Amino acid sequence: MSCVLVISDTHCPGMRRGYVDFLKRIADRYAINRVVHIGDLVDLAAMSFHEKHVSLRNAVQEVKAARKQVASLTKAFPKTDWLIGNHDALTERQAQVVGIPECMLRDYADIWQVPWTVHPRFTKLRIDGVIYSHGDSGRGGQDAAFRQAKDNFRSTVIGHFHNQAGVRWWANPEFRVFGLSVGCGIDASRMQFEYGRKFAHKPILGCGVVLNGKQAYFEPWLLRSR
Ligand SMILES: [Fe+2]
Repeated sequence: MSCVLVISDTHCPGMRRGYVDFLKRIADRYAINRVVHIGDLVDLAAMSFHEKHVSLRNAVQEVKAARKQVASLTKAFPKTDWLIGNHDALTERQAQVVGIPECMLRDYADIWQVPWTVHPRFTKLRIDGVIYSHGDSGRGGQDAAFRQAKDNFRSTVIGHFHNQAGVRWWANPEFRVFGLSVGCGIDASRMQFEYGRKFAHKPILGCGVVLNGKQAYFEPWLLRSR
């Protein structure tokens, strides 16, 4: 049985300052004995397929800055399961476009110098019967975690949707499941999140906690500015 801390999308170097300390406080409060990073550890804005601001085109600088933030996470949580998200996989995705086979690429743990257990993109990791996945391989829209839990017939934890956070339960006469969305850990004022500025809905900062596969919580990060 596990007490799982679920670290949300961090998009390093776009992780909000203080997020690691917030995570440590939550880990202490719940006596956490397992940690999952739900994916999109890094942003890789310079390598994205999207049109990008001129200040985001320096991949060398971005990777250097991202490594610093990643190191602060690995220092705090050396033993972690990391699910590869769509942003983490940009190296692999770009390589595919130009025809570079997977066997020619460095693995993710090596690129980011993390001692973590890496799970390939679209993995559905199971802990105490609960599914953990990045969230981009199932249904989206409102209440994506809830809809994916129903589709899976199993309690499900996802990230990916920065503006969704919380737990919603569903039951039939046979069984009961929850869908947990864990929000994100990003600094929305950073240039790589410029695309979100036009929307009224904003990222929800926090993390997830799952106790023995039976109880699920979203822990909001209570920022003074909010
Ligand atoms: Fe994502």
